[in-house]
Amino acid sequence: MNHSRFLIAFIFLGAVAFQAPREQGLKDEFQSDFFIGAAVNARQVDGSMASADSLLGLHFNSLTSENGLKWINVHPQEEEFAFEFGDNYVKKGEEMGAFIVGHTLVWHQQVPDWVFRNQEGTFLSKEALKARMESHIQEVVGRYKGQIDGWDVVNEAFEDDGSWRKTHWYLLMGEEYISHAFKKAYAVDPQAELYYNDYNVWKPEKRKAILNMAQMLRSQGIRIDGIGMQGHYRLDFPSLDQIEAAIEEIHQAGFQVMITELDVDVLPRPSDFEGADLEISYADSPGWNSYVDALPAEIEDQLVSRYASLFKLFKKHSDKISRVTFWGLHDGSTWLNNWPVRGRTNYPLLFDREMLLKKGFLEKMQEEH
Ligand code: GLA
Repeated sequence: MNHSRFLIAFIFLGAVAFQAPREQGLKDEFQSDFFIGAAVNARQVDGSMASADSLLGLHFNSLTSENGLKWINVHPQEEEFAFEFGDNYVKKGEEMGAFIVGHTLVWHQQVPDWVFRNQEGTFLSKEALKARMESHIQEVVGRYKGQIDGWDVVNEAFEDDGSWRKTHWYLLMGEEYISHAFKKAYAVDPQAELYYNDYNVWKPEKRKAILNMAQMLRSQGIRIDGIGMQGHYRLDFPSLDQIEAAIEEIHQAGFQVMITELDVDVLPRPSDFEGADLEISYADSPGWNSYVDALPAEIEDQLVSRYASLFKLFKKHSDKISRVTFWGLHDGSTWLNNWPVRGRTNYPLLFDREMLLKKGFLEKMQEEH
């Protein structure tokens, strides 16, 4: 080997040896367990925010559309579809190599009222509403066929006591609205995974109703892959045992488990207090919006510990759980700044307003119980 070749080889090997290790994100931490997802909004997928791009690239390998593919946004008028968000969203997910979830096709909220009525304003017949639902699914699922990997087909069809939620879908079409939605989604994109998604799945009565419905669909040969447990939790509620029972039962019943909308609310809720005065401005009152400047270290520690125990539980059941998705990318863009009280400062996610992973999470994950 002459001198210059030797020098080149030396420099090359040196560069390899001294290369800084690639920064590890949450998705790498849980690589052998489940996907790590975030629900994203329009500005987070249109390429205009470099900070969102790098946060997504480092930590996440799954995306959910936060509001942009809900009926009211993607299909505001009968003849009008708005696909700008969806197109950017899918492009972003593909650039990331992410598992892309579409949320949601049939829900009673964020759906325009025209959907349920004819031109005279009276409610549609069962057949007419079915046709309208099918054409929505045709257009939306069809546009992203082969790109969106899984769909939340139906969202929140049950009350907490396990009874059917008396939505327009249910009242006009009966229970079969669910099977029609799943059948149509399958017909349009047979490769896509199809899910039912709901909150408070840790409540046994509600879960029982959901699993009965899902098993009924399966017994009719209708595709349904998984049950999404939304995971809008509090610092001390529900208990890990309640969540674990839900994970185990869904798996036992033969369905994938997904934690689809994870966040941990650290602020009090007016509904917690009987007789709360709904006239007072909660956002302006210190008791209701206690952490405007910063989250006190002690509460942050409780939050991070709660996250670590949740993720330890999820890891223990990683054979049953395919994905854990946060409902929002960071504390600055969470719906909990505006619900159930508008204009508060909340801290429910694992990434803070600076888009940094909250301190101590990874360390707590390493600790034994
Ligand atoms: C439900 C829905 C989500 C979102 C959250 C809160 O859980 O599934 O789409 O609207 O409420 O914002």
